[in-house]
Amino acid sequence: MTKKTVLTGDRPTGKLHIGHYIGSLKNRVKMQDSGDYDINVMIADMQALTDNARNPEKIRNSLVEVALDYLAVGLDPNKSTIFVQSQIPALNELTMYYLDLVSVARLERNPTVKAEIKQKEFGQSIPSGFLIYPVSQAADITAFKADTVPVGDDQEPMIEQTREIVRSFNHTYDVDVLVEPEGVFPPKGQGRLPGLDGNAKMSKSLGNCIYLSDSEDEVQRKVMSMYTDPNHIRVEDPGQIEGNTVFTYLDVFAKDKSEVDVLKAQYQAGGLGDVKVKRYLNEVLQAELGPIRKRREEFAKDIPAVYDMLKAGSQKANVVANQTLDEVRKAIGVNYF
Ligand code: TRP
Repeated sequence: MTKKTVLTGDRPTGKLHIGHYIGSLKNRVKMQDSGDYDINVMIADMQALTDNARNPEKIRNSLVEVALDYLAVGLDPNKSTIFVQSQIPALNELTMYYLDLVSVARLERNPTVKAEIKQKEFGQSIPSGFLIYPVSQAADITAFKADTVPVGDDQEPMIEQTREIVRSFNHTYDVDVLVEPEGVFPPKGQGRLPGLDGNAKMSKSLGNCIYLSDSEDEVQRKVMSMYTDPNHIRVEDPGQIEGNTVFTYLDVFAKDKSEVDVLKAQYQAGGLGDVKVKRYLNEVLQAELGPIRKRREEFAKDIPAVYDMLKAGSQKANVVANQTLDEVRKAIGVNYF
C-alpha cells in the first residue's frame, strides 16, 4: 500500500491548549502511529508573523513551546518530519506564483480570514500578508503534495481555497503537478472545545484555556472555576446538561461513558452538586494530561536538542519542497537555464 501524505501545522502564538489537542493533535498522533501516513508537521512561524510583525519575540518564544507540545503529545521525530515554515524558502516562491491565480475578491471572501480580521480589529490596516495567508497555506500543503490535512474545523476554508489553487494551477499550465488535498476533521461534535467560561471557543485571547503544559494545580483550579448551569444553585436543584461546559468536557474526555450517563441523570434530577462533577472531571483530565505534562518536562530539559530536531526536520522538508518548486517552475516555464 502506498502511504498517504500529511501536511499540517499550527501558528506559534502561544502554548497549545486542550482544544488543539482534541481538534487535531490527537488525530495526527493516531495517523502517525498507524504507520499508514508520511507525516509532515510544520510550525507556521511566518503565518504567525502576518499579524505579529512588530512582536517577533512572541513568535520566537512560542516556537519552542509548540515544539515541546508536539513532542509531549507523542509526535515522534523518528516517525514524522517536524519543521519550521520560515526555514523553507521554496514556500515563499510557490506563494508568489499562486498569488497570480487568486483574485483579491476571493481572498476577501475567505470566511475564517474574514472572522479573524473582525476579531483582530485591524481597521483600515489589514496587513497584506495576513489577507493572503491562505495562499501561503496552499503553498505549505502543495509543496509536500499532501493529500491529507488533519486540522480543526475552522481550517476548512483554507483547504477549499487550496483545492481551488491546485485545480487552477494544473489547468492553467496543463500539468498534473499539484495534488488536491482533503481535510481530516475531528469527530462530529468535538471540533470545538468550549472555553472554561462557556464561550464557544477556547482561545488564548479570551483567557479561557487549559494548556497542555499547565501544572496539576493549575488544571484543578481551572476545572473548579468552570462555567456550569448558572441556575443550579443548591445541590438539590435539578441542573441543566445542555451548554454545561463540565459535561461537555466529560463527553469528550471521559473514557467511562456509562459513568457520565449516571452523573448526567443525577444532575438533571437534582441532588448532585457542581463540585462533585468538577472533581470527577478533574480526575479524568489529570489522567489524560499527566503523561503529556511529564513527557513535556523531560523534553524541556534539553532545549538545544529540540532546536536540533527542528533543524533536521527542516533539512528534510527542504528537499521535498525544492523538488516541487522545480516542477512548478518548469510548468510555468521559468526554468531558463
Ligand atoms: N492555519 C493554521 C493555524 O491557524 C496553521 C497552518 C499553516 C496550517 N499552514 C498550514 C495548517 C498548512 C495545515 C496546513 O494554526
